[in-house]
This record gives sequence, structure tokens and C-alpha cells, in this order.
Amino acid sequence: MSVAVILVAAGKGERLGAGTPKALVRVAGTTLLEHAISRAIGTKDLAQLVITATAGYLEQFLSLATPHIPSGIDLVVLEGGETRQQSIALALGRVDKSAEVILVHDAARAFTPTEVFDRVVAEVSASGFGVVPVVAVHDTVKRASGEEVLETVDRSELRAAQTPQGFPAQLLRDAYSSVTEEHTDDASLVQAFGHRVLSVAGDRMAMKVTTADDLILASHLVGGEQRTGIGTDTHRFSEEADKPLYLGTILWDGERGLDGHSDGDALSHAIVDALLSAAGLGDIGSNFGVDRPEFTGANGKVFLEETLVKLHSHGFSVINVSAQIIGNRPKVAPMRALVEQALTAIIHAPVTISATTTDGLGFLGNTEGVAVVASALIQQAKK
Ligand code: CTP
Ligand code: MG
Repeated sequence: MSVAVILVAAGKGERLGAGTPKALVRVAGTTLLEHAISRAIGTKDLAQLVITATAGYLEQFLSLATPHIPSGIDLVVLEGGETRQQSIALALGRVDKSAEVILVHDAARAFTPTEVFDRVVAEVSASGFGVVPVVAVHDTVKRASGEEVLETVDRSELRAAQTPQGFPAQLLRDAYSSVTEEHTDDASLVQAFGHRVLSVAGDRMAMKVTTADDLILASHLVGGEQRTGIGTDTHRFSEEADKPLYLGTILWDGERGLDGHSDGDALSHAIVDALLSAAGLGDIGSNFGVDRPEFTGANGKVFLEETLVKLHSHGFSVINVSAQIIGNRPKVAPMRALVEQALTAIIHAPVTISATTTDGLGFLGNTEGVAVVASALIQQAKK
């Protein structure tokens, strides 16, 4: 029995709104794409994994996927189509002709245990029909028209469908070569051609990540130990009146710049220290050394991005970062939203910024410099 898995991951993740394709969003330090691959790859008799990548991200998907593929399993990564169904149609064109059973799985259901894949394959082989993993519906379900509740549906007949859904290879190919309507899953697509579909037990871990709330739930399901870290940084205002101010990686127009070996971005540096300390990976000095010429004048983004790579390689993901800017100047309120946005886009987790003065006291009160205190919460994946 030769099995191929089509892993559809080409969506944009618009409802999640992470600013990056959903498959690249990290939960407990690992992208959803890799969570999905690492569970799919254990499927018995798996010969081929075909992954649809979001347009423009082919190389990134390929480099994330490759290290997870044992020898003997063929990996194909291709750009997906406009819709889920079009992505699957394109992927089917790349499935090896020798595949007898094809599973179609959503990368958005990244935590589906390998046993579900095996159950689906076993039932397809035994029955020759399409097979969908399902779970019971626990909510009382209403049929409604606008605000008006019309009736309560008998939930004993209802099942919530999950993936992977499995099919005899030829049956799926035939259905896809004739289909004209859009379907939300492959079981309904093959049923539209009169084929029978059976169900097997799904798994609550096969939940679908659609909105930001689902990510919180997911990080509880697969997330391990959480740790906090703290970091501070202080820089002196420059003597040069025209030196630009960079804080939180972006330019603060009209404000005097800060001195430093890099660009004096105390905010980014404090956050780097908070992240490194949470992970137990030292601090900005021990990781980036003030004597290294490549960091002369470097933007805070360089340090943040490299810090994130270090955290990810140790299995950590960032839950949130909070930082406070201390000093008379610059005035933070007009820039707060922009800085939060810039840092959130780099760190891929909420970053919030507050500000305070020191009641005129000390070097922060007389505008000699700026200090920042940052704290970070990070999480390591369950082994
Ligand atoms: N998918 C795909 N090709 C598309 C659209 C979706 O391969 N053109 C994949 C997604 O990557 C996902 C699965 O189909 O794994 C289910 O889609 P969905 O949960 O809707 O993900 P997105 O389309 O990324 O999310 P959204 O609809 O919020 O943009
Ligand atoms: Mg979608």
C-alpha cells in the first residue's frame, strides 16, 4: 500500500491576521507547517509528501520542510492556487502515479496526531471508499435565519469533519478532473459524484487554527514551560544635533539621536536582552559583542531578528513583550502605535510600549539620556 499525503498550506491566513502566511506562524517555537509535517511524516507506508506553498514563499516552505523528511520519502513543494480546491488540484498533478491512497490534510490542523492519519489510511484500504475523521458536536446547534432562531437541530446526527481525509487515488483524481463547483472539503467533493464516504474517529488535537484565539488554545495544547525575562538598556543623547533617533527600529523624526556602538536603539536592545535572558541564552553583549564591526551602526532589527533565530533553534517562541521608555524625551505618545506595529511585525507576537518620566530627577530627568526596561514571556514546545 503506497500512501501520498497532500498537505495544503498555501492559504494567506487572512482571518488570523498575523501579517505572514498562517503556515509560517509559530506555536511553541515551531511553525504550523513544521508541526503538521512532523506529525504527517510518521504515517505508515508514506511514500510521498506534496506541500502547497503560499505564492511567493516557495523557497521558505522548502527550506523549512526539507530537514523533516527522512530518506525514502519523496518531498514535493509547489505554489498553491487561488482557493484550497485549486491548490489540491495542482498538488494532485504532482502526486506519483504509484500512490494507491491519497490523504488531503490542512496545515491549519497542524497538531493532528499521526494515529489519525493511520486510521484514515486503514479504513480507505479496507473499504475502498472516501474516509473522513470526525468528532461529535457537543454544542446545542440552532438553525437560524438572521437573528431569528428557527429550530434546534438534532445533534446526535451531526459530526464535525476534520482532516486528513483519505481516498483511493483514482477516485480522487477522477472527482477532481470533473469538478466545477467549489467544495469546502474533499469528502463533499467526492460525494457530489455519488461516491460513498465513511467516517473514523478524529481527535480534538486536530482542531483548526483559524483566528488568533485558536493560536492561544493551540499554544496551551502543545506549549510547554513558560519563562519570563527582563532587560534594560540606557543610551546617552548624542552631542551631534542632527543625529537621527532610532527607537524600536524606526526613525523618530525631529528628535535628537542616541550614541552607541550600534545606532543607540535602547528599546530594541532592552527587548533583545529580555528575550535572551528568558531563554537563558546570555545577553546582548555575550551574543553580539560590542567589538564586532558588523554591528557598527546596525539597526535594532538586525539584533532582534538574530535573537529570534537563536530562540527558535532552542524551541522557544515569544508570547509577548512589554517595554517601558524612561526619560523626559522623546515624547512617546505620538509614536507609540507605530513602534508597537514595527516591533510586533518583527517579533511575530504582541509588543506593547509604555513611557514614564523620573519627576525631573537624575540623568533621565535632565534629558541626558534614555533608559528602557523590557520584559518578555516566552514558551518552549512540549517534547
Ligand atoms: N489553502 C491552500 N490554498 C489556498 C487556500 C487555502 O492550500 N488557496 C490551505 C490553507 O493553507 C489551510 C487550508 O487550506 O491549511 C484550510 O484553509 P484556511 O483555514 O481557510 O486557511 P487560509 O486560507 O490560510 O486562511 P484564511 O481563509 O483566513 O485566509
Ligand atoms: Mg481560506
